[in-house]
Amino acid sequence: MGKGFYISKTVGVVGIVLGAGAVATIIALSVVYSQEKSKNGDVIATTTTISPPGTTGTTTTTSPPGTTGTTTATTSTGSTAAPTTVPSNEPWDKYRLPDTLLPDSYELTLWPRLEPDSRNIYIFTGSSSVVFRCVKDTDLILIHSNKLNLTADPSLTALGSTPAPTIKDYWMQVTTQYLVIQLNGTLKAGESYSLFTEFEGELADDLGGFYRSEYTESGVRKVLATTQMQPTDARKAFPCFDEPAMKAEFNITILHDPSTVALSNGKQIESVEVEVTGITLRKTTFERTRIMSTYLLAFIVSEFDVVETMEGDVQIRIFARKEAIAANQGEYALNITGPILKFFESYYNATYPLPKSDQVALPDFNAGAMENWGLITYRESALLYDPSVSSNGNKERIATIIAHELAHMWFGNLVTIRWWNDLWLNEGFASYVEYLGADHAEPEWNIKDMIILGDVHRVFAIDALASSHPLSSNEEDIMRPEQISEVFDAISYSKGASVLRMLSDFLTEPVFAQGLSSYLNTFEFSNTVYTDLWDHLQLAVDATHTSIPRNVSEIMDRWVLQMGFPVVTVNTATGQLTQEHFLLDPESVVERPSPFNYSWFVPIQWIKNGAEQNIYWLLEKQDLNDAMRTTGDEWVVLNLNVSGYYRVNYDEANWNRLLTTLQTSPESIPVLNRVQLIDDAFNLARANRILTTLALRTTLYLSAETEYMPWKSALDNLDYYYLMFDRSEVYGYLQAYIGQQVEPLFKHFQEITDNWTKIPDGHTDQYNQVNAIRMACSTGLENCTELVKGWFSEWMNNPSVNPIEPNLRSTVYCSAIAAGGAKEWDFAWNMFLSSTIAIEADKLRAALACSTTPWLLNRYLEYTLTSNIRKQDATSTIIYIANNVVGQPLAWDFVRANWAYIFREYGGGSFSFSNLINGVTKRFSTEFELKQLEQFRDDNNDIGFGSGTLAIQQSIERTRANIKWLSQNRNDVMEWLKGAIKA
Ligand SMILES: *[C@@H]1O[C@H](CO)[C@@H](O)[C@H](O)[C@H]1NC(C)=O
Ligand SMILES: *[C@@H]1O[C@H](CO)[C@@H](O)[C@H](O)[C@H]1NC(C)=O
Ligand SMILES: [Zn+2]
Repeated sequence: MGKGFYISKTVGVVGIVLGAGAVATIIALSVVYSQEKSKNGDVIATTTTISPPGTTGTTTTTSPPGTTGTTTATTSTGSTAAPTTVPSNEPWDKYRLPDTLLPDSYELTLWPRLEPDSRNIYIFTGSSSVVFRCVKDTDLILIHSNKLNLTADPSLTALGSTPAPTIKDYWMQVTTQYLVIQLNGTLKAGESYSLFTEFEGELADDLGGFYRSEYTESGVRKVLATTQMQPTDARKAFPCFDEPAMKAEFNITILHDPSTVALSNGKQIESVEVEVTGITLRKTTFERTRIMSTYLLAFIVSEFDVVETMEGDVQIRIFARKEAIAANQGEYALNITGPILKFFESYYNATYPLPKSDQVALPDFNAGAMENWGLITYRESALLYDPSVSSNGNKERIATIIAHELAHMWFGNLVTIRWWNDLWLNEGFASYVEYLGADHAEPEWNIKDMIILGDVHRVFAIDALASSHPLSSNEEDIMRPEQISEVFDAISYSKGASVLRMLSDFLTEPVFAQGLSSYLNTFEFSNTVYTDLWDHLQLAVDATHTSIPRNVSEIMDRWVLQMGFPVVTVNTATGQLTQEHFLLDPESVVERPSPFNYSWFVPIQWIKNGAEQNIYWLLEKQDLNDAMRTTGDEWVVLNLNVSGYYRVNYDEANWNRLLTTLQTSPESIPVLNRVQLIDDAFNLARANRILTTLALRTTLYLSAETEYMPWKSALDNLDYYYLMFDRSEVYGYLQAYIGQQVEPLFKHFQEITDNWTKIPDGHTDQYNQVNAIRMACSTGLENCTELVKGWFSEWMNNPSVNPIEPNLRSTVYCSAIAAGGAKEWDFAWNMFLSSTIAIEADKLRAALACSTTPWLLNRYLEYTLTSNIRKQDATSTIIYIANNVVGQPLAWDFVRANWAYIFREYGGGSFSFSNLINGVTKRFSTEFELKQLEQFRDDNNDIGFGSGTLAIQQSIERTRANIKWLSQNRNDVMEWLKGAIKA
């Protein structure tokens, strides 16, 4: 009985974290169900004929071993907590597979049912035989399996001459997600075996594993089956050795309705009609995959249509709903996928290893996209483009996401991290090179610069907290599925991208690419740890005699093994430089020790009076560099183009010279450094390193700035001022000042667009036009409000023709709904419900949160948990509402009141809890709110926060910092604003 499903309270939490169905599974498992018992050792029958899954009749009713155990163990729930408090050392209580067995290949057949069964649930059935090698003698087989019911006893076959031992006992170990098989004898090292299982699972709408997605087409409800395996849900589709290093080859067969198309990683090699228990089905078989990890598997059964092309020998296909394909929404993706793939082939100097690359747009999808090898899945809004409704921002997102996923085809799929603790390398890398790939597809956009706003500055905000964490984690600390989910955070993606960009920059791109190519070619089809990449970059450094002051791993250890980043301070009077760990809250206590005592090797590219200087390395906490001394009105700017992952502070005199230069000749400072000056100044002020008024002074020159990025940076930073002040009297002054600064920009765009009749040429100009309208309207510039209200009512009068230019829709909808009442809101809601285009629906969904009428917002919150809002969108909708000053307290109350429900219903396969928690609490700035937050944490300890656990801590820390900031700065800000407002 020691091997039951122990569901004590703490373990129960783990189960719930894993998904909405956990509770159902626990209940389910307590029921003894009928089975067909197959004979152990019946070699040929089980391994060569794949009986159609799910067709196994219930011939005998025997309870398999473990089933009875289940019942008993479940009954004891809550009464005996012993099994979890006493750490057990049974191999099946460990979250990592033992080192005894290695898979070689799988034969997998799956049959998803797109109609509910007699119990009114959607299911899939399947069978799998896995061939594995034994590398150490063992009498135990542990194979991952989660939420699957076995429909027959598993059977084991020896592939060598010695017969396989018989199966003594088997059961599902729920907490660690194993199918445990105890054997009567020993598996011998060096021998291969085959394990056959038949199973059934629910095709739930939980966005994880093998799941279903729904949509309506011409009024008809359609159901499709699709997958999301990463990180640990392949085991929810079939029993498998579900760890990234357990690579194998997969032979996949899908049974499906003849009216549907089945897709998988490999090319289809055969699709024939078959009769299964009197039902006519199509049996589609796919080419054996290359050696790959389970988390990259995918299968999809749908009625989708396709557009396709060839790029050299590689077939490129875009799949989507029939209506979307008919409306040519796959065209843009089709045009850029091939060229981006080619770009990466040459960048990596490695050919694409597969014959095809499919991109599939899914109506329900949790992440932005998923890099399944050969069968990439996307949210619709991340793949489908329609010039009549999509903005240029939508287009940019599509280009960068496609590039990100294609980058993984080599970096991640061909060469895979050994364990999830190195996820940052995988995601950071793809998040960096996505800009290179997108730049290749759209060279006019200047998109490489966008990494500053999109990643570097964004993650600085998180990495400057004492609760941050290093990029690299220990393997032992990332064990449980929810710990694995938690590493998919901004640090992994954006800090990873930022430090790899810095590395590529100081090595130079050719050297970086050379090392990369050697790494990929050396480790193809196998697994690595991050230091393997350093080794190969070092080889490239040595071969090219590139000069760096330490070797690659010594430099990078500083950025990878310690959290945070430095602020480099230069005193231009003396040439003295210092570096310190930058903390947004200078009084926060850093408990995490660093092996390098928070000191970095900092590459400093810099300019003096606009002229680029030789790179300088700051290798100690303090140093002197005579070249950085200035005389007269000479100024210096460090961290040219923000290629390094650090902030810069100056002596007051240099700051003043920089502010003067911004006002007199802003273009003598490169645009990325104008962005940097604004962002660094605001954050240095937050950290009490410079005066808040100095930061505000960096915005004075904006009345003459027309470039997008500095404006965006300023607005992002002022966003904090809005959050802190929009419930106080300072708000009026803030609005007056911003309105005054933005008015020239509004006029500029009015002019260059011929009174809003043309679209600006430049990609970023189009973005800045949106900023101009958004800020002009929100600060109450009359021309602006009239303009957007006019457009919106024109649309309301004739809903079939939307007169609003796609780039401007988000901001126009938001401004018009904010200025309007129930009539505008209901109109937009109806347009949202009837919208068949995801990007349009997304804009409306965001804009509906802009209302200033509390009851409308409360009703909207209620809607978020109904079927009108897709599960994937629920948390972001709540965050939108919380962003609105009127919606903030409503959203917080709502989340608190519904936490248990939200957690249960939205926990499965979800990475968005940390966003939700951070999103609804980011305005918190009073002692009262801090208490509420702590109370919330304590009240829900038993339910848990899943992937949002860290976010709770971050939110508490942030609230404390806000309280302090307000008390220190409120009056200064108000006085400064008063002085800056022209009468
Ligand atoms: C396993 O071995 C035990 C005795 O060692 C025997 O009683 C049992 O029947 C065997 N189980 C199977 C399934 O062969
Ligand atoms: C698994 O078995 C349980 C118990 O019989 C049942 O309630 C559940 O619906 C089954 N799951 C599927 C997908 O059939
Ligand atoms: Zn990725």
